[in-house]
This record gives sequence, structure tokens and C-alpha cells, in this order.
Amino acid sequence: MKKKPFIVSFEGIEGSGKTTQFNDFLRRLKKSRLSVLALREPGSTALGEKVRNILLNSYCKIDPLTETLLFCAARVQMIREKILPLKGKVDIIVLDRFFDSTLAYQGSNKNLDLDYKYFEKMVIGLALGVEPDLTFVFDLSPGVSLRRKRDKDRFFMKKIQFHRGVRLFYRKLAKKFPRRIVVVDAAKSRGDVSKMVWEKFLKKCPKRFSSYIRP
Ligand code: TYD
Repeated sequence: MKKKPFIVSFEGIEGSGKTTQFNDFLRRLKKSRLSVLALREPGSTALGEKVRNILLNSYCKIDPLTETLLFCAARVQMIREKILPLKGKVDIIVLDRFFDSTLAYQGSNKNLDLDYKYFEKMVIGLALGVEPDLTFVFDLSPGVSLRRKRDKDRFFMKKIQFHRGVRLFYRKLAKKFPRRIVVVDAAKSRGDVSKMVWEKFLKKCPKRFSSYIRP
């Protein structure tokens, strides 16, 4: 069964439990007979990991537009190297962050100084036609989420106001793309959130998947 892959992305502010849920979701998928490709951003390619290191761990000045373009560059590399060559050879692609991260994190930056419509078109356009079919946004107050976060990178170090802005931006995106984006209350227990994510996925995934997934 190989057609156009179904693409699911996981989004949210730091410490929202996004990556834990991403891993729980992959564990459930492993029990099915679906073929899966899992990728994380920024990264997943040799170049992408280098760009990730610049973006997360270097403390030199990075202009907001340069930052946007670096995230997009890492994404283009991942898409051309990992996604496009598959030509329908996997059933499902699971992404730990995708272009909604750029829209929310870089788009909420007041110093970006770029017309938002143009910015959004550019960021989505640079995904070269790859678009999630289903996106989960894990919604949690930054006051709670930042206490959970272990890696203290360049984004973690930003003021709480920045994280509040990103959270609000994700909510705005969910209103703008209601057919694709599902907002999940990440304050619930890990088990409840994981169950809810799986049930939503079962509802939205192509019908042809049902015979490959155990109930
Ligand atoms: P990571 O350690 O992967 O954080 P998390 O576990 O929360 O995903 O770091 C990724 C950081 O990069 C995170 O702070 C969000 C930020 N980011 C952007 O600002 N724009 C983007 O387009 C992407 C993909 C990530």
C-alpha cells in the first residue's frame, strides 16, 4: 500500500511535551504494519544538524530574517534529501516540528520587519509542496512548560514574553487552518494526551490505513 504519504506534524512551545508525544505516537505506529519515516527539525541531515547547532547554540548576533532563512534552508535540505526521493515509498511521515514552527517562532518576532503575508507565503513555499495533513499543537502555559525543559538553548533563554507570543501565534494558526491543526491541552496527563492524539489520527488518516492498524 504506497500512495502519497500521510504527513503528521507535532508542534508547540518548549517543554509542552511535544517530543514525548511524538515518541509515544511513533511507538503506537510501530505496532501497525504501516511504513513510517520520522524526522525532526531543525536537523535530520548532516547539514541540518550543523545549521541546528548554529541556531540553537551560537550566541552571535542573528538577524530575524537570517534566522528564518536558516530554518528554511535546513528544511529544504531535509525535504530534498529525505522526503522527495521517497516518491511514495512510505505510508506516513511524522515530523517533530515543521513550517508552523517558523511561522510561530520567527513570525511572532516584532523585529522581523517583513510583511507577514509575504513571510507566510515564503515559508510555506520553501517547503516545496510538502504540507502536513494533520498538525498537533501542544498548548501549555510557558510558566509551566519552561520549568519542564531540560536543554537550555538559545530559544529557551529568551524572555517569557517571547514564549507567550509563540503560544498565541500557534493558536492563531490553528484558527487560520482549522482543517489541519488540532490544539491539544498539554496540561492533561501524558497518557490522556497520547490517547487523544491517537484517536484523532485514526479519525483523520486515510481509510486505506485501517486494515494496517490494530484496533
Ligand atoms: P529543540 O531542542 O528541538 O526543541 P524542542 O524539543 O522544543 O523542539 O529546539 C528547536 C528550537 O528551535 C525550538 O526552540 C524551536 C526553534 N525553532 C524555530 O524557532 N523555528 C523553526 O522553524 C524550528 C523548526 C524550530
